[in-house]
Amino acid sequence: MVSSMSVFMDRPTGRVLVTGALGQIGTELVEELRQKYGYEAVIATDIRKAEGCQILDVMDKKAINTLVVEQEITEIYHLAALLSATGERNPELCWNINVVGLENVIAAAKENNARLFSPSSIAVFGPDCPKIAPQKTPLNPTTVYGKTKVVGEQLALTSGIDMRGIRYPGLISYKAPAGGGTTDYAVEIFHNALENGHYECFVREDTKLPMMYMDDAIRATIELMDVPFDKLSESRGGYNIAGCSFTARELVTSIQRHLPDFTCSFHPDIRQKYADSWPDEIEDTVASDEWGWSPRFDLDRIVDEMITNLKKK
Ligand code: NAD
Ligand code: SER
Repeated sequence: MVSSMSVFMDRPTGRVLVTGALGQIGTELVEELRQKYGYEAVIATDIRKAEGCQILDVMDKKAINTLVVEQEITEIYHLAALLSATGERNPELCWNINVVGLENVIAAAKENNARLFSPSSIAVFGPDCPKIAPQKTPLNPTTVYGKTKVVGEQLALTSGIDMRGIRYPGLISYKAPAGGGTTDYAVEIFHNALENGHYECFVREDTKLPMMYMDDAIRATIELMDVPFDKLSESRGGYNIAGCSFTARELVTSIQRHLPDFTCSFHPDIRQKYADSWPDEIEDTVASDEWGWSPRFDLDRIVDEMITNLKKK
């Protein structure tokens, strides 16, 4: 039972649940939500164990339902998933966790009339998408991971609950390791640059992808969840949001501003294929118009923040 209304500040009822809370996004989102609503109001869960986080497997429908009802959850951030590289190695598991897991969470959200955030990805786009991806375009991803995200966006519109999502670009952060994605080279490169002075990059140097600093992604997530439902259009299943786009070579050059002796070699593997099927840039005027989205971090600012913060660690 919720003992004090004061912990919820601008929320009238209920606690907040985060699934997949120990991942790259969850680590920072939980911190931010606890700042906003108070520690006790935010229940962090993951399939792995850690302090301040309880075990919850999103494949366990009954356990999710019980937690949501008993803890009076009225807002859910559903981050448990397999990312692209891990997902393509285990397509069946990827489908189960990303789609069946989401359906389980939707059922629990419905039970308690909870607002649900479920992330989408630039992986919803396929090779037929223009290089600058519009909000509305046919979604024909080549990866199983991308297909699970398209289904997630469709469920947002058909589930009958208040469900929202963002097509996150590749996310760059220093607080938690990246978890099995194709865009993870843009995180690994910093650790290798500082520890070894060299990185073997798994995509070509001319590979250009939409990327975003985690601070922008967390702010976007919370801003979207604060918007009244009636202000959002059918794009709410997965809003395009742009941070900045750069090639792997441009990232190296920006890092060399801090570490002039840093070297990088390029040895593309299977992840090149996934990267090549995604757009170079994102067109995000729908998110700007509907809920005021605007990024704050460009490439050089991301690099400055990453190098400064990783050096302190
Ligand atoms: P991550 O891999 O870092 O974290 C996912 C978390 O889910 C992990 O902590 C893992 O232990 C947990 N998990 C896995 N299976 C589970 C299960 N059965 N039950 C409960 N927890 C389970 O991923 P992330 O980068 O934090 O991504 C979170 C969401 O954002 C995902 O939906 C992902 O597709 C999406 N997304 C991420 C990026 C990115 O660049 N990081 C980009 C686009 C979309
Ligand atoms: N950044 C993610 C990945 O590379 C895309 O959702 O898997």
